[in-house]
Amino acid sequence: MSDAPIGVFDSGLGGMSVLREMLRRLPHENFIYVADSGHCPYGGKSQQQIVARAVAITDFLLGRGAKLIVVACNTATVAAVEYLRANYSCGFVGMEPAVKPAVALTRNGVVGVLATVATLSGDKLHRLIDRHAGSVRIITQPCPGLPERVEAGELDSTQTRVLVERYTAPLLAGGADVLVLGSTHYPFLRPLIQQVVGAGVKLLDTGDAVARRVEQVLSGASHGDAAGEDLRADRVGRGQVEWFTSGTPQHMQSVGSRLWGLPIAAGVLPA
Ligand code: DGL
Repeated sequence: MSDAPIGVFDSGLGGMSVLREMLRRLPHENFIYVADSGHCPYGGKSQQQIVARAVAITDFLLGRGAKLIVVACNTATVAAVEYLRANYSCGFVGMEPAVKPAVALTRNGVVGVLATVATLSGDKLHRLIDRHAGSVRIITQPCPGLPERVEAGELDSTQTRVLVERYTAPLLAGGADVLVLGSTHYPFLRPLIQQVVGAGVKLLDTGDAVARRVEQVLSGASHGDAAGEDLRADRVGRGQVEWFTSGTPQHMQSVGSRLWGLPIAAGVLPA
């Protein structure tokens, strides 16, 4: 079991920002990454539609022997992780926007959260804010259109910059000095966002925190579904990543490779 792969999925290429952090912490693990680019974005979809996609991808990953599944998508976590945990016996690790560290980091007491419409309207984020915000003011901003720009590989095009300016303006006007990147696509836009908001505003994402959580679950130290069992790979060399997409392999090969920084050859996710 320990040599089995870790399954990772996102609505598209965004979850690669989480995979990058996991590879850093867990270099001996094998991973299977599924980009649901053929169905991206999830942000405007209904919960039912997102659950259906999450189930199809989970079945695929389990069919390939995954020992743990990382839902590397904030939107899918909000919409589907409870359903997945209730209906499958394997462990799931989901995303959580970095509200807690942002609250600890702000100096002027205002935090901005950039996320999808679905993430912002879910109970999960409101519970997180209720639990951690205290006297800090949290301003949320939906960002329709941004994942599509990342999927198109447009990390600094005029169109992308216009959207980033539009979505960050109300947060800056409200006085936010920390912005939470609440979608796994946004870390790819970090240089552009930083340029737009200025060096004085801190940007936080959750990739490394999720990688640490995965490490903990694999080691059996967690109280989650995999409690007690050591699921860590015992290979000495580096693990491998297998790539699948519901979009076209050409898209993964061109845009995916550019975001990843290395050539990627992707298989097609069966319909
Ligand atoms: N990557 C997804 C997330 O983390 C968002 C993109 C989408 O709308 O599909 O929320």
